Parts: sequence; structure tokens; C-alpha cells
Amino acid sequence: MSERYVPKAYSPDSVPRVVERTAHDIVIVGGGAAGLRAAIAAAQTDPDLSIAVVSKVYPMRSHTVSAEGGTAAVLRDYDSLELHALDTIKGSDFLADQDAVEFFVARCPKEIIQLEHWGCPWSRDPDGRVSQRAFGGMSVKRTVFAADKVGFHILHTLFQTSMKFENIHRFDEYFVTSLIVDGGACAGVTALDLRGGRMVGIGGKATILATGGCGRVYEFTTNGFIKTGDGMALAYRAGVPLKDMEMVQFHPTCLPGTGILITEAARGEGGYLINKDGERYMQRYLPSKMELGPRDILSRSMIQEMKAGRAFDGPYGQYLGLDLRHLGAATIDQKLPMVRELAEKYMGLDPIHEPIPVRPGQHYIMGGVSTNSTGETTLPGLYAVGETACVSINGANRLGSNSLSECLVFGEWCGLAAAQHAKQKAAYPRGAASREALRKEEARVFDGLMGRERGKETLAGVRVEMQQLMERDVGIFRDEAGLADACGKLAKLRDRFGSVGMADKDRVFNTEMTGVLELDFMLDVAASIAHSALNRRESRGAHSRTDFPNRDDANYLKHTLAYRADGAPRIDYVPVKITKWQPVERKY
Ligand code: FUM
Repeated sequence: MSERYVPKAYSPDSVPRVVERTAHDIVIVGGGAAGLRAAIAAAQTDPDLSIAVVSKVYPMRSHTVSAEGGTAAVLRDYDSLELHALDTIKGSDFLADQDAVEFFVARCPKEIIQLEHWGCPWSRDPDGRVSQRAFGGMSVKRTVFAADKVGFHILHTLFQTSMKFENIHRFDEYFVTSLIVDGGACAGVTALDLRGGRMVGIGGKATILATGGCGRVYEFTTNGFIKTGDGMALAYRAGVPLKDMEMVQFHPTCLPGTGILITEAARGEGGYLINKDGERYMQRYLPSKMELGPRDILSRSMIQEMKAGRAFDGPYGQYLGLDLRHLGAATIDQKLPMVRELAEKYMGLDPIHEPIPVRPGQHYIMGGVSTNSTGETTLPGLYAVGETACVSINGANRLGSNSLSECLVFGEWCGLAAAQHAKQKAAYPRGAASREALRKEEARVFDGLMGRERGKETLAGVRVEMQQLMERDVGIFRDEAGLADACGKLAKLRDRFGSVGMADKDRVFNTEMTGVLELDFMLDVAASIAHSALNRRESRGAHSRTDFPNRDDANYLKHTLAYRADGAPRIDYVPVKITKWQPVERKY
């Protein structure tokens, strides 16, 4: 039985440099929707199972909190699991694994009801039933919501539920720096206790990575500053492949300047996208779906409008308009209150009276740590879930509102699988591996990184260059020359990272240190994205190659696997699983 770990109070006079260790049955890295759902599922199986949730932020600050528009599930007679699966597979441009999609859609409804029972305040129709709204690429109204603050309410519900379990132990503000690998299996993590200023070892019979995505490798993103691909990089460094990393989603409606998301629900409730002539320009690109097309097509259409000179010009470059005026104040205030608040606070305008300026920005990554449907990776004892993982249900393009459902469904199954794995292992991980990993990480972080003097490179300098080149060359449209250039420049940035100096030598809450560790992770993730994109010489879903404009099923109906190697990542492929939907041209 593991002892409960109680972090010591910080005393400025005696910042400890001691190595501390603790052991649990399951270690979950990340306290967002996927991590907490996994923790609850595991905790429910057995009160004696000890579960550690390790998060670099207080869980209610996890990026799930910013999700806005909704979560998909089949709840009504007009809908069917078959249709949800087909929409998802078609949206994915036939790169999704169809067995995983079938598994997923069948379990979404139960999760919505489960959250309702845990207290999630879903919006309701006048007859009392849970409301559902339209979302891009979905054939029918399938998206369940709580006004436009869905992430906040889901996260709050899960967080409060998790607190009922005495066997869930939280390590808030602990930054995981590496996986402990012992005898070919994952045996927990090393983590920097940000408040205590020391490195700790958190042993686990099973470890789940649930750190969300990696949007911060791009310059313009809806993602919070914490989304730096930590879980992906941790797995990648331990030899686990990253799958389909070239598949990066750009959301069409972000506020220029900040990248703040304006939810697709605004279009689901009837909003229009307009150009500077007031024209609903989607009639030129996707007349059958208009504003409710999938995100990859909408984002490309926006860039084409900009190139054709039909966009507005503003202080942050070109943008288009999201027009909600015809919806009226009552609908906006009831269904989209946060959209109104964001437009007022960040753009200084009221969408009841004026269109909202929007442009596409990085929002999500379909790729991630390669797993099966229960989150298992190729490293025994290591699991991944949520945006960190690639199961794959999203293939080359995710449909809006499938990701929160993905966190819930696969969160539960991953938690159950990790619990089963932990129960089968009688012994806790051996101390020797953990001690050795701790010593290594102490030396790397406190002596190596913190010991660096101010160098010719700065943290912000290398990070901004990486973000700008990813935006320019690995963005919505890509080609061979740009991608090859990006791969070369990323390799140089990796070298230059070695000369990034550290001005702040304090061990306690050293945000410069956190920034350096995150940049180290992001450089790995960025390289896996750029090389995977360079090697996929076709266009499919969000991966749009101007030099290979067509989908090429003969050569690329397969998942990319990127393995970390000395120098460039090693790229391999595995087949896509087709059950009953043969790939056809994706037409709307
Ligand atoms: O637009 C949105 O509310 C985003 C939803 C999603 O990414 O699933």
C-alpha cells in the first residue's frame, strides 16, 4: 500500500534539495477532462487503489476550461450511432480508425447522462430535455451544451466529483520532467515541485499521459500558454511513436490579436461568415453546408478570401466577419453569452450590433501519442488519452464537439485499463530506477539548465522563431520547399536551444525554468509535426499540400508514425482500420 504524499510547506529559508519519492498504483499526468475522467473511473474500481493526479497547474486551470461550444452524442430519435460514426469518418477524410470510431460513438450518450448525474448543468429545451445544437460537419443537431461555457462546466463537474474520492491524491503545480522506465516498462514520473523547488519521483504501476495538446508550438493559437505538448514529448522520448502529427486543426473563428476562440456554436446557432462586401462567401466554396462545413474546409476558404482581396484589413492583418446581428439579443444572451462578453472585452464591440472580426488559428491536433482504444501505448504501463493521444478517431480532421466526448469516453476506458494493469502488478516499482531517474533529472535541471549563464540565445527568441516558422511553413497550406526549410530550421533551433541562458537562479516557482523545459518539449513536438507533414505527399483533411492537391489513397491511406531518433525523426506507417465505410471522395 502506498503512503499518501503530503508536500512540505515552502519555507524561504530552507529550500530543500532533497530527493523525495512516493509510489502509487496509477500516476495520471494532467488534471483536465481526460485526466480527471480517468482518475474517477480508476478510483471507482477499488477504494484501495492509490491514484496520483499530477498537474503543472491547479486542475481548474487546465485548458478544458476554455472549451466553449459543446460535446457530441446521439440522444434523439432523429439521430443514430451509424450517422455519428459516418460523419466522424467522413470528417476525418477517411483516416480515422473505424473500429475506434464505432467504439467511441456507442459510448458518448452514457457519458452525457453520467455528467448530468454528477451535476453538469446542460442547457435544456422548453420541454425539459437536454438541448442539442448544430455543429460543423455533423448531419444533425448532435452537440450537447451548457450555454457557451461547456468546458468550464464539464471540468467543474469532474473536479468536484474527483474530490469525493479519498484515493485520488493531487499533486498540483508539479511539472513532470521525464518518465521513469524500469525493465522495459513505465514506472512513474519525475516531477519538479514548482512551489517547493525540488525534484520528486512519483512511482506508479501504470502511468497515464493526459496533458492536452501542443498548440503553443504555433504563433497564433486558441490554446492556453500551458499547452506545450508535454505528454507527447515525454512519450516520444521514451521511444513511443507519435501518430499522424501532420494533422493539425485550424479553427476558422479566432479573435485577431489574441487568438481567443469564438465558438463554432455561434454558427451552429445561425451566425454568418461575411467578407468585406457583406457577402456570405461560403456559397463560393461549400454551398451545401455554408458556415457549418468542417473546419479544414472553412479555414482554407478564409485564406482564399484573403488572397482574393475580399477580407477586411486591421491592425493584426486580414480578417473576415462573423455576423450574429440577425440572431437578436435574446438568442445571443441565452445561448452565446460568453461570445458577447469576449467580443465586448477583447474587441470593444457588441455582436448584437456589429460583426465580430475573425481569422483562422491553430486549435487542436488530431495526432498524438499512438494508442489503442483503451489508451495503451507500445511501452508497457504507459497510457495516453485525450488530445495527447491519437486513438485515432479524428483522422485528418476532427469534427467540432467530438473532442470533449473523446476525453470522457476514452478517459473512462483508459482509467479502467490502467486500474486493471495496476492490480495485476503486485509489486510497486523498484526504488533503484526511481532513484537513478531522480538523480539524472536533478543534475539535468538544477545543475545543467539552471547552471547556464546568460547566453547568446534567449528563451523567448528561440520560442518565437519556432512559432513563426511553424505558422509560416507548417500552417494551413504547405509545400515541399517550405516544409523542408522548416525541418532544417527546427534542427538548427534545437542546437541553438543548447545556448539558451537562464537568468533566474531561484528554485521556487521559477517560470523561466518552466519555460525552458516546455520549449525543450515543444522543439521535439514541432519536429515531429514538420517531418510527418514533409513525408505525406498528398492532401487529406487538414493537411493541405499545394504541390500535391489531391488525396492519394493508393499511397497514403495509412497513419504516420514518428519515432524520435538522433537528428530527424524516423518516419514509418501503419494501415488505417476500415470496418464498413469504404473510402470515397469526401463531398458535402
Ligand atoms: O468552437 C468550439 O466551440 C470548439 C469546439 C471544439 O473544438 O470541439
